[in-house]
Amino acid sequence: MTKDEVRNRLLFYQDLGIKTIYRREATLTASPVPSPQPPVPRSQSPVPSPQPRSAIAELVLPLAPVHDNLSKISEDIGDCKRCRLHEGRNRIVFGSGNEQARLVFVGEGPGADEDEQGLPFVGRAGQLLTQMIEGTAHKEGIPLKRQDVYICNVVKCRPPENRTPQPDEMEICGQFLFRQLQAIRPKAICALGSTAAKAILGTKEGVMRLRGRWLEWRDIPVIVTYHPSYLLRPYNQNAKKEAWDDLKKVLHYVYD
Ligand code: URA
Repeated sequence: MTKDEVRNRLLFYQDLGIKTIYRREATLTASPVPSPQPPVPRSQSPVPSPQPRSAIAELVLPLAPVHDNLSKISEDIGDCKRCRLHEGRNRIVFGSGNEQARLVFVGEGPGADEDEQGLPFVGRAGQLLTQMIEGTAHKEGIPLKRQDVYICNVVKCRPPENRTPQPDEMEICGQFLFRQLQAIRPKAICALGSTAAKAILGTKEGVMRLRGRWLEWRDIPVIVTYHPSYLLRPYNQNAKKEAWDDLKKVLHYVYD
């Protein structure tokens, strides 16, 4: 198959509304050890190609290399210009914390402080998150510091005016979030707010309906709770108790 034929085939898929094609690493089939499959968002499934995979593979980047890890993922993100969010960013905010964390927190996307420092949750919402994690753990007798967990976002570049990330931005950046989660494979994931819940669980349900119960991402338990920015608003103070309850639940599950 020539490159033009492959291109036409991909354009045909695009016309059908198929935006993402996943392929396996060539080494996957050769590997004697069964390796984790590339994470696939629930809203999509791998596209069975009628053409030989090797032809299409020439045009499609590998999304989840075998033995993936955080530095590989960060390297693959590179100086990312895959979506419009790169236009206004100062820094890519990849994530921070323990690569072997048993608990991962996922937020929505960087704000101004995060964009400036290149680190997630370092502004006002971040201070509240740190306080929530360390304060609740301490009260519950769990010796846990922020650096023991891993914290990242659905999108790695700051959306203009802190707007909610758009579906295509979430889809493009989501592949890296899924790789992060798959590489860390924590004991549990805590989704902060509805954007994180939507990206991880592929649901349109709001936090109020999702919070407080165990859900799942690729057999890893997920708890959804309120985003710390939501809890900072004076009229949402009632939600704080619920957020603390959610946090207690996930902390005891992970660290008891
Ligand atoms: N809000 C987020 O969702 N993520 C951050 O990193 C900071 C604020």
